[in-house]
Amino acid sequence: MKRVYAVVRVSLASLMVLGFAGALWFSRPVAAAEQPASPNKIAAAAASDDGDLFAAFVPVLRHPRCMNCHSQGDFPRQGDDGHPHTMNIRRGLGGFGVTSVKCSTCHQDHNLGGAHLPPGAPSWHLPPPSMPMIWQGLTDAQLCESIKDPKQNRNRNIDQLVEHLTEDKLVMWGWNPGEGRTPVPMPHDEFAAKVKQWQAAGAPCPAR
Ligand code: HEC
Ligand code: HEC
Repeated sequence: MKRVYAVVRVSLASLMVLGFAGALWFSRPVAAAEQPASPNKIAAAAASDDGDLFAAFVPVLRHPRCMNCHSQGDFPRQGDDGHPHTMNIRRGLGGFGVTSVKCSTCHQDHNLGGAHLPPGAPSWHLPPPSMPMIWQGLTDAQLCESIKDPKQNRNRNIDQLVEHLTEDKLVMWGWNPGEGRTPVPMPHDEFAAKVKQWQAAGAPCPAR
């Protein structure tokens, strides 16, 4: 009798699991069968499942407004196609350009009005060659690990990283990139909320 009850309970729960979290059920049949009790619990587990919290905001980081300063090569990039910066602009020793052609020769602390005029934000520059913060070519897992790694992110802990992601002036520029440029693909409050959810869960990275 007890056994029959258990079987009925499990299969009822299975139906619920299938209904509420089909995908999770198929990827983890054993775990789901072992703890069939609460579909809410399972849904919550799915929502905080490792990679998902990072994946929720990574499209912003992968957008050209960010990637144009976080790509391979010793130069910044331009446009939605990420072509190398015209006029042979180089990174330079500190990321501020080379002696004769500094970023600040053209870029100011604000966007200049008019299409194709230099965009701007305070301290406009590239990461230095000693710590270039290159994200191009990384998987989501590698990108997540890279921005969390103090050896690659200029010694930031998670709180400082989150502050940078949500408040830094060069990052904020992505929401206000100047005439003729597409902003990053998510409202800022939504992005900040997702970054903070990720932080609250312990900043988990997707599996490799
Ligand atoms: C004009 C160039 C420029 C743009 C545009 C830019 N960044 Fe950066 N980014 C930098 C520089 C320079 C640093 C290093 C500054 C520092 O360490 O304080 C940096 C550092 C970072 C870091 C620190 C950790 C790491 O390992 O990369 C993060 C995170 C970051 N940027 C996110 C973004 C995001 C998100 C965007 C787009 C919304 C963006 N950046 C756009 C230049 C840029
Ligand atoms: C001689 C002037 C000049 C110098 C020097 C210069 N830039 Fe630019 N930059 C421009 C202009 C003009 C644009 C806008 C081009 C357009 O919109 O067609 C631009 C655009 C950019 C963009 C593209 C933004 C986007 O997402 O499309 C980035 C990134 C950038 N510059 C970074 C830098 C960095 C970093 C340096 C220094 C290492 C630098 N620039 C030096 C003139 C300059």
